[in-house]
Amino acid sequence: MLRTALLAAGQSAAIRRAVETLPLSRSVVNRFVAGSHLDDAVRVSSALAADGRHVTLDYLGEDTLDADQAEATVAAYEALLAALGERGLGERAEVSVKLSAVGQRLPYDGEKIALDNARRICAAAEAAGTTVTLDMEDHTTTDSTLDILRALREDHPGTGAVLQAYLRRTEDDCRALAAAGSRVRLCKGAYAEPARVAFTTRAEVDRSYVRCLRVLLAGEGYPMIATHDPRLVAIAASLVRRYGRSPGDHEFQMLYGIRDDEQRRLAAAGSTVRVYVPYGEEWYGYFMRRLAERPANLAFFLRALVR
Ligand code: FDA
Repeated sequence: MLRTALLAAGQSAAIRRAVETLPLSRSVVNRFVAGSHLDDAVRVSSALAADGRHVTLDYLGEDTLDADQAEATVAAYEALLAALGERGLGERAEVSVKLSAVGQRLPYDGEKIALDNARRICAAAEAAGTTVTLDMEDHTTTDSTLDILRALREDHPGTGAVLQAYLRRTEDDCRALAAAGSRVRLCKGAYAEPARVAFTTRAEVDRSYVRCLRVLLAGEGYPMIATHDPRLVAIAASLVRRYGRSPGDHEFQMLYGIRDDEQRRLAAAGSTVRVYVPYGEEWYGYFMRRLAERPANLAFFLRALVR
């Protein structure tokens, strides 16, 4: 109930305006977001790289219905990738892109505009010696996102996909994407989805996650195991061994600000660990999904407000 309410609040412009004007919002948000500017993204990436971790950077924004805004997002990614290239961070840092931030939901030609814009970001990533992963959004965009992924991979085969274990279709999508060279991030899924398309209990989602992970690890691609769940991390580590995987052919991923100790522990034990680092001004949707995942985060937010 609380999760659904928070995710619904994440879609509400009125609640967004109210939350954004709260005096403490930014300091609380900064627990999950690197900062507002490109410099913040580069600073945090350099620190994580120096600490032996990898990074995927997300320029915050989603669901744009404004072509100029989509263009501004592409320009922000191009500037970010140029900065990563100049600092030799291309080996350690890639970018994550939400297609809805680069035009996918525009009323006319949205899919084509998103593909063209994503192509420009992939080209900038290639020039910087790195790759792009397409974030996955709600289920109404899954087919379109996978179509765009296939088109991008013709010229940029390193482009990564995200699959969400809570969707009933995902085990099949894993089978389709477990091919050589295919980078696939497996996460549980962060949106409010109907039971028609998604598993709704934690146990069902976790079981689906493990089934999907087996398919990816048994395949020939590059699985990216994105979860903070201690049980699933332990299961993943044992499946990695069972399928004869080694650190260079898969990675663990976690979000910036969440289970930092565990990220360091995995990296110190020799695993490849990538941290998803969001930055920018459009933090509201991302932040509300993090609150929805964990009641303790909501308590932290409310405590900061009354202090
Ligand atoms: P779960 O939510 O069950 O949490 C397990 C434990 O992890 C908790 O008990 C707690 O200890 C810790 N934890 C989890 N979330 C926390 C939080 N917010 N704050 C503090 N502790 C927390 N989703 C999506 O739909 N599309 C996408 O493209 C992506 N991309 C993505 C990239 C990466 C690198 C990660 C790690 C996650 C995503 N996600 C995502 C989000 C994902 O779908 C999911 O919502 C979150 O990862 C939370 O699920 P967990 O697997 O961590 O387990």
